[in-house]
Amino acid sequence: MNTLQLQSGNAIPQLGLGTWELTGSTCEKTVKEAIAMGYTHIDTADGYGNHKEVGRGVHDSGAKRENLFITTKIKKNAQKEAQVLAFGDRMRKELNTDYVDLLLIHWPTKNVPFEETFTAMHTLVEKGYARSIGISNFNTDLVKKAAHISPLPVATNQVEFHPLLFQKELLNTCESLGIRITAYSPLGKGEALQHPVIRDIAGAKGVSAAQVCIAWLMAKGIIAIPKARGKEHLESNLKAAELTLLSGEITAIDGIQEQKRIIEAEGWREFDF
Ligand SMILES: NC(=O)c1ccc[n+]([C@@H]2O[C@H](COP(=O)([O-])OP(=O)(O)OC[C@H]3O[C@@H](n4cnc5c(N)ncnc54)[C@H](OP(=O)(O)O)[C@@H]3O)[C@@H](O)[C@H]2O)c1
Repeated sequence: MNTLQLQSGNAIPQLGLGTWELTGSTCEKTVKEAIAMGYTHIDTADGYGNHKEVGRGVHDSGAKRENLFITTKIKKNAQKEAQVLAFGDRMRKELNTDYVDLLLIHWPTKNVPFEETFTAMHTLVEKGYARSIGISNFNTDLVKKAAHISPLPVATNQVEFHPLLFQKELLNTCESLGIRITAYSPLGKGEALQHPVIRDIAGAKGVSAAQVCIAWLMAKGIIAIPKARGKEHLESNLKAAELTLLSGEITAIDGIQEQKRIIEAEGWREFDF
């Protein structure tokens, strides 16, 4: 699996498995199956309520911990210093691991100063509980603020990004600050797979629409974490890492310009995107 360098000094596999909405035995089985077929990067969050299942899937896979990259996220309503420190202990127990590779602020909030949350995350890194830190759902202004405030390099900003939502300005800002973008909902939760530009390219190349979406992100140096269940989707998405798009194909997808947000984020969003 291709890896990208983070400004924290660690490397991240460019393709990972998203686990939002994966619960119970399906989650365990999917994580185990994905690792067995070659996935090395698993994305979860406190808010997904599946830490234990992810941890069991990882354990059952038999993979060595050092060969895996695990991301989790701090909930929006638990960003005070004491809450973050307590989460550090709990996430290790739930995920059955000594450390996570990447710890993100899941959603920015106005209720706790960013300084306080970043300081607590710094402490978790010093304790060896997290290797890198980052943010999620931060807009351009907030990314600049986070980069300025954080005592540690901000490794990634995880945001909605797919062919129906090409966030060019945010990508440019993050790049200029050395922050990688991780694309969540990289298939637009399935909606991007229906777009005629994507379907035409997939048809011409004899690949799946999902592979085209993932390859487009990877060509831009973006990390993609599609969620999938079942061997067929998991394998197909993994193979997208081997797909190279022609520059004309990339330009055609860039030109879709729908700016369609699939994740409405009602109740989570306190700042404009
Ligand atoms: N930071 C945040 O606030 C945030 C927000 C949203 C998501 N995320 C992360 O990003 C991950 C991915 O996003 P997402 O789950 O919203 O959506 P997504 O990955 O864009 O799409 C998932 C949907 O696509 C289907 N699918 C997967 N592979 C396919 C294939 N090869 N062909 C056809 N359909 C396919 C899945 O079906 P099956 O399940 O049946 O395979 C599922 O219905 C999440 O799981 C989570 O880890 C983070």
